[in-house]
Amino acid sequence: MAVRELIDKLNCEKKLSHDEWVKLIKEYDESDRTYAAELARCISQEMFGKDIYIRGIVEFSNICKNDCLYCGIRRSNGNVSRYRLTAEEILQCCDEGYGYGFRTFVLQSGEDAFYDREMLCGIVSEIKKRHSDCAVTLSLGEKSREDYEALFNAGADRYLLRHETADEEHYKKLHPAEMSWKNRMECLSDLKEIGYQTGCGMMIGSPYQTAECLAEDMEFMCDFKPEMIGIGPFLPHKDTPFRSCPQGSYELTLFLLSICRIMLPDVLLPATTALGTINPKGREQGVLSGANVIMPNLSPVAVRKKYMLYDNKICTGDESAQCRACLERRMESIGYKIKISRGDHI
Ligand code: 5AD
Ligand code: FES
Repeated sequence: MAVRELIDKLNCEKKLSHDEWVKLIKEYDESDRTYAAELARCISQEMFGKDIYIRGIVEFSNICKNDCLYCGIRRSNGNVSRYRLTAEEILQCCDEGYGYGFRTFVLQSGEDAFYDREMLCGIVSEIKKRHSDCAVTLSLGEKSREDYEALFNAGADRYLLRHETADEEHYKKLHPAEMSWKNRMECLSDLKEIGYQTGCGMMIGSPYQTAECLAEDMEFMCDFKPEMIGIGPFLPHKDTPFRSCPQGSYELTLFLLSICRIMLPDVLLPATTALGTINPKGREQGVLSGANVIMPNLSPVAVRKKYMLYDNKICTGDESAQCRACLERRMESIGYKIKISRGDHI
């Protein structure tokens, strides 16, 4: 079957066989990518119109117990100036964001045990108390099922935990031996069972990734049916073991965004910051390829440069208000509009 036919088949049947996935990923060309983007854009407009949902991210701690080989804030990077925001500082970021029209706050950090269950639950419930029309998304990494349950009961609505790769052998090449692919997968199924709108995802072009790995990622997501998918290109960070690895492909990232939209029409799909970093028009092109979410930074400017997962991350010098205005302009330039709402999964 030609690539074009595989895209049509995916659109009709919402799944492909392993070999078909591999072929799609290996053999697509620029015209197939355009074809997929147009189809994905149509689907996205049917689902969401030309509305773009925004999520304000508060990166509240860059302290992490893990040592993922790709990540700039890994524990063995001694060049990071580490910080923690207080509960009050986190709440202030959300208050400020509310004024700019954010109705979802994403609390993201390294895996930092300083913020224990009680403290995190307190922060979540206080955000919900102050802003009852808002959703809270957590992106705090792997935790116990009991922690996830407590945070859900405190009012958290969504959880982002990229699976990073659905291939266990590939996972081992991206993470130190102490980290476990099985545990990560278990976390994801716990989150879903508990009732979170759950997000998984992977980097495109991470070291040692093959078309087979990406095929497994697509098959995993096809089964798991996440409410959200985060995908962006791998970008090297100068203080990591992967410093000399090539960055991921911009075009393949856009293509797979379209493919995700075609496979899961109602998935919440951000045009990620990494996509905006690899190309100045990346977020706009992401939206035109089927993305419907943008996640600008709400962290205090004083800490932004310290949350560098990869080199040259955009928006680290801008005030939240500037980012908000910039995004409004960028979305209007392609005929889309930022929607002030929680933007839940339907
Ligand atoms: N390049 C691109 N994305 C990265 N992430 C971490 N490090 C990098 C990098 N060097 C992504 C991971 C993680 C998310 C928060 O950021 O997929 O889950
Ligand atoms: Fe931050 Fe454009 S979105 S400056």
